[in-house]
Amino acid sequence: MIRKAKKSELEEILNVINKSNRNAYRAIIPKEHFIDPILNREKLEEEFNQMTFYVYKLHRIVGVAALKIEKDSANIRWVHVLPEYRKKGIGGALLGHIEKEAKRAGVRRLKAFYVFENAFWARKFYEKLGFKKSESIMVPWKGRAWVYVKDI
Ligand SMILES: CC(C)(COP(=O)(O)OP(=O)(O)OC[C@H]1O[C@@H](n2cnc3c(N)ncnc32)[C@H](O)[C@@H]1OP(=O)(O)O)[C@@H](O)C(=O)NCCC(=O)NCCS
Repeated sequence: MIRKAKKSELEEILNVINKSNRNAYRAIIPKEHFIDPILNREKLEEEFNQMTFYVYKLHRIVGVAALKIEKDSANIRWVHVLPEYRKKGIGGALLGHIEKEAKRAGVRRLKAFYVFENAFWARKFYEKLGFKKSESIMVPWKGRAWVYVKDI
């Protein structure tokens, strides 16, 4: 089931994001640049107040994604699925839900940034969902990070 997150779920969301981030990015980000945990409770509360978080809930929260609407475009943030629940369609379902909600709110363009060049799974993920590469920036440890966009 996908629904808006409740404030009482912040601790569980924090755990999903940090666990997922650690699992996915430790291998591709050099130690000196790798931030773990990526979020703490205080920072997550700030994020929670600035955007809408959605959760994919089974017996517990297994996936998270957030939507930050800015007029007619919106940023997709904090897309994370617990490692043991990946590749089952959960991330795709979360983004499908977010896209519908964004459309309903009058959003015409979705943006996801920054997607690291070597995060092959994330690039595949966005490409499969119809996003296209837009501008890029250079990250401190060489290599690019892309903005992916989708007109909806
Ligand atoms: C990216 C992420 C959210 C995808 O979640 P998921 O539930 O595994 O995604 P889905 O099962 O819905 O996959 C949808 C499509 O994405 C692509 N994809 C997902 N994981 C992939 C992988 N490891 N390798 C290659 N393609 C992958 C596939 O095209 C897949 O479609 P298919 O199953 O028909 O081949 C998940 O891998 C994750 O949490 N990663 C760590 C955090 C992250 O990188 N977030 C992206 C934000 S920058």
